[in-house]
Amino acid sequence: MSKDRKRNPFTIGQPVDPESFVGHQGLIDIAFDQIYNRSNLAIWGGPGMGKTSFLNLLKSEQVWQSQDINPSEAIIVYLNCLEIKPFIAATFWRKIIYSIGEKTKDDSIVQLTKKSLQKPKSTKEHLRYILRKIGEQNKFLVLLLDDYDATLNSDSRYTETDIEIFLTECRHLANHSEERKYLSMIVTSLRRLNEKGPSLTADGSPWYNHFGFQRLKPLNDKEIGIVLSGMPMTREIRDGIEEIAGGNPALLQNIGFLLYSKRRSGETLNAEIFAKEFVEATEHFFQDTWQLANELEQALLMLIALYQLKGRVQKTRYDLSDISTIFSQKERELNDLEERYVIQRTLEQENTNYSFTSTIMEWWVIKEIENTNTEILKQREIVFLNFMSRKQVDKVKDVINYLSENKEAIKSIAKWVGKLAPYLA
Ligand SMILES: Nc1ncnc2c1ncn2[C@@H]1O[C@H](COP(=O)(O)OP(=O)(O)OP(=O)(O)O)[C@@H](O)[C@H]1O
Ligand SMILES: [Mg+2]
Repeated sequence: MSKDRKRNPFTIGQPVDPESFVGHQGLIDIAFDQIYNRSNLAIWGGPGMGKTSFLNLLKSEQVWQSQDINPSEAIIVYLNCLEIKPFIAATFWRKIIYSIGEKTKDDSIVQLTKKSLQKPKSTKEHLRYILRKIGEQNKFLVLLLDDYDATLNSDSRYTETDIEIFLTECRHLANHSEERKYLSMIVTSLRRLNEKGPSLTADGSPWYNHFGFQRLKPLNDKEIGIVLSGMPMTREIRDGIEEIAGGNPALLQNIGFLLYSKRRSGETLNAEIFAKEFVEATEHFFQDTWQLANELEQALLMLIALYQLKGRVQKTRYDLSDISTIFSQKERELNDLEERYVIQRTLEQENTNYSFTSTIMEWWVIKEIENTNTEILKQREIVFLNFMSRKQVDKVKDVINYLSENKEAIKSIAKWVGKLAPYLA
């Protein structure tokens, strides 16, 4: 390897280091308000929006110091709830107790965790007991629970009743017990917690009402510039990148990583190759975004993609212009998709226009349409008929049929690379 070979400045495949973490100052301040008050916070954001990176940042001593809170009083425990599969409450408590023992130097706490782990099954009561000791030692516990929505998925070994019991226990610990004074819980999830799981807990109250809720917002223009600053580029290239990634940090880092490595190796890169390699690297983000959407949301995404398709495919034989009126009836669902940063809304001559925050997500949805077989189409038709007239549905079906029979019409993904394409050659 030659000496002057520069390392790629972009981060992929792992949470970003606290030093390279961009933006979200407001949310960092809020998280520390909650930590300071021994209170709780639920942060939600779609795939790749930076949930794990954010929790990782909260572990950094420097960040604690910048917030004027003494980190030595805190025992910080991070747990990704997806690690426990299927989810089992006893394993959850056990892992937390184990980590407390690992993360503290206080001997009395360490001894207590060891004793607790000798018991065959860990429970919330064990943790409560340890918390009391933590409080006695003038310390407190910060529980960083990543992908907390994993605790809401039932399974043959983790039933709906188990979920309710688990949530009631968490709520008791964080909200009602004496020991809550020594605990601050910060959790992340893909969707707002109240949209999933049981509406009430075993004791009949909302299980999530001890959390403050915050959304992990997309990066703004200035922050996007900072993420991309590792590689000099023209404004045109940057605009092109934004069409594909929007303010999603994972997509931005992936594009940066790919362009940087190609530039370094001197390989030629056209739009087609770029798009293919980008999709290979990021497919799971699009897949997850699609699967997180319910049937109605998927139907709306299909309509938006079809509506945009006019501009991408020449010689389209169809006109879906009146479809836009449907959007005005589905404000709530569209708002939800917008909040989750899948789509964005712009005003054009007093008309609201919906577009995808990532053109590659738009391509993904077209691929889904293209792969619609008669069976799936029948199911989709029922969903469409919920909010469209028979005539409108027939029109949409025509287009879907046309696309699945004429795959060459949208064969080249390069069309979705849009503004960036001319600069890739
Ligand atoms: N604030 C940020 N500044 C710079 N890069 C970021 C930031 N947040 C996330 N990233 C980048 O985005 C990628 C995804 O981040 P992260 O894994 O934290 O997201 P996530 O929301 O936890 O994703 P998933 O839904 O897959 O769990 C990381 O590789 C990281 O490089
Ligand atoms: Mg994550």
